[in-house]
Amino acid sequence: MSTTTTPATLDVDRARSGFSALAREVAGKPARFFDGAGGSQVPDSVIDAIAGYLRHSNANEGGVFVTSQATNRVLESAHAAAADLLGAKPAEIAFGANMTTLNFLLTHALGRTLAAGDEIVVTQLDHEGNVSPWRLLAEDRGLVVHMVGMHEHDGTLRMDELERAIGERTRVVAFPLASNAIGTIPDGARIVELAHRAGALAWADGVHAAPHLALHFAELDLDVLLCSPYKFFGPHLGIAAIREELALRWPADRVAPAAQTPAGHRFETGTLNHEALAGLFAAVDYVAELSPLEGTRRARLLAAYAAIGEHERALSLRFLNGAAGIDGVTVHGNADVTRVSERTPTFLVTLAGQEPVHTARALAERGFFAWHGDFYAPGAIRGVGLGDAGGVRLSFLHYNTAEEVDDLLAALRELA
Ligand SMILES: Cc1ncc(COP(=O)(O)O)c(C=O)c1O
Repeated sequence: MSTTTTPATLDVDRARSGFSALAREVAGKPARFFDGAGGSQVPDSVIDAIAGYLRHSNANEGGVFVTSQATNRVLESAHAAAADLLGAKPAEIAFGANMTTLNFLLTHALGRTLAAGDEIVVTQLDHEGNVSPWRLLAEDRGLVVHMVGMHEHDGTLRMDELERAIGERTRVVAFPLASNAIGTIPDGARIVELAHRAGALAWADGVHAAPHLALHFAELDLDVLLCSPYKFFGPHLGIAAIREELALRWPADRVAPAAQTPAGHRFETGTLNHEALAGLFAAVDYVAELSPLEGTRRARLLAAYAAIGEHERALSLRFLNGAAGIDGVTVHGNADVTRVSERTPTFLVTLAGQEPVHTARALAERGFFAWHGDFYAPGAIRGVGLGDAGGVRLSFLHYNTAEEVDDLLAALRELA
């Protein structure tokens, strides 16, 4: 994905000061949050926006009284903020409970337009949220699902296999903008090009990418892009951008009296989570505020992501260099210090002779928060040669510091 802005240094201390949660201690020592890929912490501004909505504006939409009118404004501004974040139009945005629920809804609607024998391409790098909906749809409608494999040594997609998997019956190529298990960033532009050349839709999971990389729905020419604000400093919620003409055409599940609505909003069923949308607006604002530059919200978001990327690549380098010097620690996937721009700062590690759950528990006792297992990405886990127990995921966000990474390396050295 491209950005046109110049990277500028992130003020990490200032960013951290916005999060009360980061002041937590475990047994008298500061907690170190390396669980970001499972869900980020939330700045106080987002918490205040959620509480503020419930305190001052709580109502349903569409009424003539003041709280309902305030609610209308919350919904409108949340769609506009999400559009800026995803690089899409507000009318293309749909909100839902989470990415998985939205994806089931969208695949179900598209499925009504597909015929038996139509083909879907998914990848081994994907989270199940972008695989299971296609497999279940295939069972219902007689579709064929092809799964594209990975290179075990560096956790990248087999692009030659992807190219071969796409044929004249391919209707959708579903892929991740970044892997939540091992951090790989696939070549999204190339995947879109291959999908569109065959007349297929490009269907991207941006959940893991969203806290790390600027999203470019229109610029990448995506047809569908999904993400989850609880991964980028917001509340539990899902967002989809759906190309406008597709969203208007697909047979959405809607209750009979629902008025004619903008394209993406056709996939919003029932009453939305208004307080979470107030929080989402504040979360997008929080990211934009990290920008060292002035400008439109989209321009500030791009500048903020450039600064986030620079800081996170420095953390990745520090971690990879340190981990390479510890006997018994294996980083699975791309561990190449010359290729940190091809990955997010999300590392899958194992310690020789240790079950991942034991390593995670030993880290937790020392105040390091890290997930273990397969992270609902069993394909990627197998793709780097691991079994069902998976690995330990150490995932950094922009609010993590070099000192925290050093402390983590010291703990791994002790445990290895
Ligand atoms: C890459 C990726 N895709 C999809 C999901 C599912 O998102 P949600 O929890 O919003 O359904 C996750 C959650 O961890 C994820 O990391």
